[in-house]
Amino acid sequence: MSARNSSTAVDSTLSRIALVTGGSKRLGRHLALALSKAGYGVIINYRSSQKQAEKLAENIAKRGRYARAVRADVSDKVDVATMFASIEQHEARLDLLINNVGNYEPEHLRHVTPEDWDECIQANLNGSFYCCYHARPLLEKTRGQIINIGYAGVDALVANPWATAYQVSKTGLLVLTKSLAEALAPEVRVNMVSPGQLENSIDLPDDLQRAIPLHRAGTLNDVAGAVEYLLEADYVTGVNIDVAGGYRLGGN
Ligand SMILES: NC(=O)c1ccc[n+]([C@@H]2O[C@H](COP(=O)([O-])OP(=O)(O)OC[C@H]3O[C@@H](n4cnc5c(N)ncnc54)[C@H](OP(=O)(O)O)[C@@H]3O)[C@@H](O)[C@H]2O)c1
Repeated sequence: MSARNSSTAVDSTLSRIALVTGGSKRLGRHLALALSKAGYGVIINYRSSQKQAEKLAENIAKRGRYARAVRADVSDKVDVATMFASIEQHEARLDLLINNVGNYEPEHLRHVTPEDWDECIQANLNGSFYCCYHARPLLEKTRGQIINIGYAGVDALVANPWATAYQVSKTGLLVLTKSLAEALAPEVRVNMVSPGQLENSIDLPDDLQRAIPLHRAGTLNDVAGAVEYLLEADYVTGVNIDVAGGYRLGGN
């Protein structure tokens, strides 16, 4: 791993700290900003988007809040271990881990290679486990929580030949969510928030009225709302919240 860390500390008394994986852009960026507004210092994990991650940390710091950008490829065990060592060193606490990395590269199963398969499972599922593994001791101390970002409808067992590895990774992530919720209770809560078709989706259906019962794509704020609910939901663990307007309620 590159040991690069860009710290924009403005306050040495760190209260609550959140780590968002893949936090420099799109949904991860939005969640980092929402968490900052909610009073969390944020650690913005990135893999290659250094400029965006550092810019985001600077913007948050300009508002008088704590943020730090840290590079790690979550699919790499050593990178993840090094990232958490840097958290021990810099923030010395963690209250929330959001496993937001979830690479989606639609390809028909007939054309998916073993390399494609490994890459997807490694980042989306194994990488989330690596982060949970290292976050656990920190979260146990703060009675913190983990929120995994899923994909709507993964609690139904359905075929998905255009995104099989993605579907398997997110279904596995749901099983991991529920298993960790039981295993880490009562100290750490573990839940999942699953968007359906967001406004920024790379394959938004043409006919949203037909595809989505609530007749619109989801916004990043819709997802942030569910995350914010879980922050204070002290008696909720092991659940998946679809934030999808009813998308895929009946399967694919
Ligand atoms: N967008 C949607 O419509 C939608 C719908 C349903 C579910 N979701 C879920 O929502 C989450 C976010 O989706 P998104 O579309 O906003 O994200 P995205 O564009 O797919 O990726 C966000 C960031 O993830 C980072 N990333 C990818 N692989 C990484 C790795 N191995 N290690 C560290 N960072 C890595 C990338 O960072 P770098 O740029 O630094 O490489 C990228 O900026 C995902 O879990 C996705 O499955 C999204």
